[in-house]
Amino acid sequence: MLQLPSIRLVSPNFSDLLTPNIEVGTFPDGDSHVHIPRISSYKGEEVALFHRLYPHQNHSLIELFLILDALKQEGAKVTVVSPYLPYARQHKKLLEGEVVSADVICKMMKMMGCEKLVTFDCHFLDAEGDSEYNGLKIYNISMSKALVAYAKRVFNGEGFEIIGPDQGANYLVKQHGGQSMKKVRQEYKDNTISYRNIEKLEGMPDVKGKNVLILDDMISTGSTMIKAIEKLKEGGAKGLACAATHGLFLHDSLQRLTALCEIVFVSDSIASPVSKVSIIDQL
Ligand code: R5P
Repeated sequence: MLQLPSIRLVSPNFSDLLTPNIEVGTFPDGDSHVHIPRISSYKGEEVALFHRLYPHQNHSLIELFLILDALKQEGAKVTVVSPYLPYARQHKKLLEGEVVSADVICKMMKMMGCEKLVTFDCHFLDAEGDSEYNGLKIYNISMSKALVAYAKRVFNGEGFEIIGPDQGANYLVKQHGGQSMKKVRQEYKDNTISYRNIEKLEGMPDVKGKNVLILDDMISTGSTMIKAIEKLKEGGAKGLACAATHGLFLHDSLQRLTALCEIVFVSDSIASPVSKVSIIDQL
């Protein structure tokens, strides 16, 4: 059970959900600037720091490190609440010389004084609750219950199947009796870094005449969801809803997805026009 410290520091990039009480800005040359009013009052205290790391992940990470360092100098013990962890997708080395950035980010957070990271449906974790990754303590919260509850309203009391488009988000669907397909990606071309297109989704569930909620940890370019929609339509699905914890919606993926299914919705881990459930209710 998660128990956050009662002293809360809130970064301006959380202002849609909480009232900011620290200042984070940018100098004209682009350098980040942080000011924590009355910082000495946090001396030796346990503090929860709410700071988003997306969008503008590189900038936001530097801001986080600046805040953490200042609080560390006061001897504060900081639990960081960052709903979406950037770089979490690069947690494996597929090419020789490729940097596993998920490891680096976690090591840096720990080094800068993060006692614990509270995050949501973290890409490299496959269960809710406490874990440790590269020395960083992490508490992973799943939004799947809230997303499934919202889908019940969407389908207006009609039954629906819950399908994961790939194995990565299997723990989100399994706890609701759902099942996941398996995503097969193409290989890297010529040993260079490139986006690996999806070759196919394997393991077609029986969805003929059924409503389906496609549930994933994140929608980034939308390619996974689009492939899943196409496949489930071929399989005769009746109504389709797409949901994910994190909606990055790169390029025009939100428009493409909304044109292909009844409804697309996500949490407000990253604020978007289709954020329908709130991470705040889980904290
Ligand atoms: C991958 O394993 C994840 O669970 C998501 O399916 C994936 O990250 C979504 O990315 P995209 O929207 O670019 O297909």
